[in-house]
Amino acid sequence: MSGSHLSNVWFSVTPLKVASGHGSWVTTVDGEEYLDFAAGIAVNSTGHAHPAVAKAIGDQAQRFIHAQVNVYQHDLLEPLAAKLADITPNGIDTFFYANSGAEITEGAIKLAKQATKRPHTIVFSGSFHGRTHLAMAMTTSKTGYRAGHAPLPSGVFVAPYPDPLAADQDAEVAAALRGFDHVLKALTAPDETAAVILEPVLGEGGYIPAPPAFIRGIVERCRQHGIVFIADEVQSGFGRTGKWFAVDHYDIEPDVICMAKGIASGFPFAALGTTRALDDKWPTGSHGGTYGGNAMGCAAALATIDIMSEPSFLPNVVARGEQLQAGIRELQREHDVIAQVRGLGLMIGTEFHDAARVSAVQQHCLHEGRMILMNAGTYGTTLRWMPPLVVTEGEIDLALAAFSAALKATA
Ligand SMILES: Cc1ncc(COP(=O)(O)O)c(C=O)c1O
Repeated sequence: MSGSHLSNVWFSVTPLKVASGHGSWVTTVDGEEYLDFAAGIAVNSTGHAHPAVAKAIGDQAQRFIHAQVNVYQHDLLEPLAAKLADITPNGIDTFFYANSGAEITEGAIKLAKQATKRPHTIVFSGSFHGRTHLAMAMTTSKTGYRAGHAPLPSGVFVAPYPDPLAADQDAEVAAALRGFDHVLKALTAPDETAAVILEPVLGEGGYIPAPPAFIRGIVERCRQHGIVFIADEVQSGFGRTGKWFAVDHYDIEPDVICMAKGIASGFPFAALGTTRALDDKWPTGSHGGTYGGNAMGCAAALATIDIMSEPSFLPNVVARGEQLQAGIRELQREHDVIAQVRGLGLMIGTEFHDAARVSAVQQHCLHEGRMILMNAGTYGTTLRWMPPLVVTEGEIDLALAAFSAALKATA
């Protein structure tokens, strides 16, 4: 008996109990400091307890905490939508708010079904779209997310995602696109297919940026068949990849973009962006939620966008990402257990030949290096790097030193 009153259902990455955080660091109840390169699973974009975000939330709490969006509109809903319209890809100008990633990906599918009057969805192998029932049905990165929960909603079909380790990447992309065409011929006809939902950088599936020719091929097919193309940027959005959104690296315009995690620096908040034309087909009252558009969440998101709009913010993400990738590549030369280093901005995956080694390195970094890291990938072979986006050059050096020591100690 642990004596805890907390549910057993949460898995634990570390045994740490934390009392506070600032920037890239958390302090435990025992007063020990840890470099937090998990950042709340890519959430604490502006670092822990950024003063401007904390102030915005505090000030807003004095005005009102919750102003239910169906009952009346509070005065931050439109200003936030206007800012989001500025930073999201061309054509995205209309927004719906919720509280978590899963709610937003489910909302996106509900919109696509209503707008097209079609029933089915296509996802990609390695996908992660959340833990509610439809989101679980759309999640294929690990059996553990789905096991024991059947029956899951039907009407979700899985197309292949290119393997980043394939030697011939052009052939791999061509095969994945043929696989997608096969799904449209064999499993769900275009006129039955409402939506395709894709993570431009696969997240839980292993931090794998989609090859440009693949993502463009998928968008082309969606356009050809009137299928709604949804970019799930819950993890890759809000500066994580060094641009506002990962799709900005690919010069594509999604019909719907899903945002959460980094959007409000850790305050539970999520947004769906779409075109006015598509939103006009979403019948009023067919979707909603008690807390969507929460006033403190809007205040936190507005403050987050202000911070990220500072001219040095996104260039820091790019520079720190390059520094980190270069440092890991240097170590790859000495440690052949590292199969691949990949990623965009500060969404970096280090692929190992051996999952046990990933876990040993993670443990060494935690206990000896005082650095928190997580893994990813269907086989648990990816070590993922997702520090706060305000991470400094010195902190990246510290992280690389801890990683280097862990690689040596676990060899
Ligand atoms: C790409 C992606 N979509 C959706 C989700 C689900 O978000 P949430 O945990 O806020 O429901 C996640 C969470 O990791 C994610 O990475």
